[in-house]
Amino acid sequence: MVKSALRAPSDDKRWKAVDARMRRMGRDPGALIEVLHAVQESFGYLDLDGLAYVGSALGVPPSKVFGVATFYSFFTLKPAGEHTCVVCIGTACYITGARVVLGGIGAGLGLHPGETTADGNLSLLTARCVGACSLAPVMVVDGKTHGRLTPADALACLSDL
Ligand code: FES
Repeated sequence: MVKSALRAPSDDKRWKAVDARMRRMGRDPGALIEVLHAVQESFGYLDLDGLAYVGSALGVPPSKVFGVATFYSFFTLKPAGEHTCVVCIGTACYITGARVVLGGIGAGLGLHPGETTADGNLSLLTARCVGACSLAPVMVVDGKTHGRLTPADALACLSDL
């Protein structure tokens, strides 16, 4: 299969940012770690479909991709919680209040980035630009984007989970 004909694991806009990063690096297999960083920055963690896609796109065998993703402690393969909330801390979101939203979640739920609630219900992650800057500040909950957030909006949304 031709590398450029590969399809991303989903229509999620975040894959466009990852694809753009891979293109800029010439789909060089040596860019594996940087591309995995790009995936994790966009989604908050690396899932198996994403690893397979990156491996195919860069021409790196799945065993090597998985090996790299599990070797480095800064890569996370799965959010621990049943639900996942990724708060974007990219530039547009940061300047429009992502920090305040994170502060509100921390104050309301006692949950900070990288943590999971004690009951395993919710993991809170951060990412750099989830591709919805016009809606900043943004969070993605179980794949659904929520924009123009206030801390109260974020808490209300997460309390429903
Ligand atoms: S910076 Fe948050 S969606 Fe782009």
